[in-house]
Amino acid sequence: MARTPELQAVELFRETFGAAPEFLARAPGRVELLGNHTDYNGGFVLAVAIDRYSAVAGRSVSSRRGRVRSSAFGDDNFSVDDPERGASGSWERYVRGVVWSLGERSGVRAGFEAALAGNVPLGAGLSSSASLQASLATFLLASGVIADPDGPDSLSADETRMVLARSLQRSENEFVGVASGLLDQFTVLFGRTGESLMLDCRSLAFERLPLGHPPPAIVVCDSKTSRRLADGMYNRRRAECETVVAHFRRLRGPESVGWLRDVSLDDLAAEWDALDPVGRLRARHVLTENLRVLDGAAALRLGDLATFGRLMNASHASSRDDFANSSPALDALIESAERSPGFLGGKLSGAGWAGCTVNLVSIDSADAFASSVSSAFSRLTGTTPDVHVCRSADGAGVMPLG
Ligand code: GLA
Repeated sequence: MARTPELQAVELFRETFGAAPEFLARAPGRVELLGNHTDYNGGFVLAVAIDRYSAVAGRSVSSRRGRVRSSAFGDDNFSVDDPERGASGSWERYVRGVVWSLGERSGVRAGFEAALAGNVPLGAGLSSSASLQASLATFLLASGVIADPDGPDSLSADETRMVLARSLQRSENEFVGVASGLLDQFTVLFGRTGESLMLDCRSLAFERLPLGHPPPAIVVCDSKTSRRLADGMYNRRRAECETVVAHFRRLRGPESVGWLRDVSLDDLAAEWDALDPVGRLRARHVLTENLRVLDGAAALRLGDLATFGRLMNASHASSRDDFANSSPALDALIESAERSPGFLGGKLSGAGWAGCTVNLVSIDSADAFASSVSSAFSRLTGTTPDVHVCRSADGAGVMPLG
């Protein structure tokens, strides 16, 4: 049986630093069930933390260096006072960016040594990067490497988590250079077993929604095609959405449209011919997707998974046709899923273009679904996908060792 990421991180720490770690932190991956590319448009998202994890074993040290060993990527060693960016799109950027953003808020009190391990598939749309960020941040705060800026009593637990989520988003935006929204960091910090999370990315209000009794299996199918978030497509889509925002600001005044969310589908239809021909398709996806999240939340409140599943299928079609962030491999995975037993609904996961689909499947059919989707995809494409039957999970946490 595979060793857990937690155990791997602890062993890696001992091998690398010749001592016992003092803290063990972990954070889950996540799947976005509805709300694709809505977050940075001020819209709604509905997501679940899943039981695939990044783990960090570590301790604070008196030097002013961050020394990190990752089982997947290798070593890093940098000044905690002035972390340099490192290569674009590299894992070091994510690590150093966490120290940079948390340190800017409250100062770095010490150096640290840390070992990283994980089983969130990398670059596959399951938020391996936010999971890494959240596990590292949780370790840095618990170990006192970073001072808690707000004091233990001044904010509620949820407020503290939201401040942290925004700080990690800032790190990804300003240090890593990906203009992502809040979905990933929010979900990996706030997740809770048995629940999904709906977030209003404009007001930051959120609601915990039941996944069902019994909950469906969350089956992630990995096409094993991969892309890097920093490769430009993500930021390009964001810019395309901005063309529509800019159009409505010119029309109604700069103050009137804070986000694409503030434009309605009727507004879009009225201005259709005057809008940028690419931007208007991207906007139609985002605005219809916001409605699908609201409808999906209503369905979950009623325990109506059949309706929820249909909304996921509609989301995938809209991503494919209007947002153009699917791929032949992702479409083939959805086609394979539609023919498999227990399928309630499915869509591409996260940024898109490559990586995984997420499917809700009746709990009794999860194994039959997994083998059916795998053989159907092999017949269509000649490659075998990795299929992960996942459960919902709790958000980031930490424990002292010894
Ligand atoms: C990536 C980003 C998120 C979100 C999704 C698409 O996962 O990091 O902020 O935009 O893509 O919904």
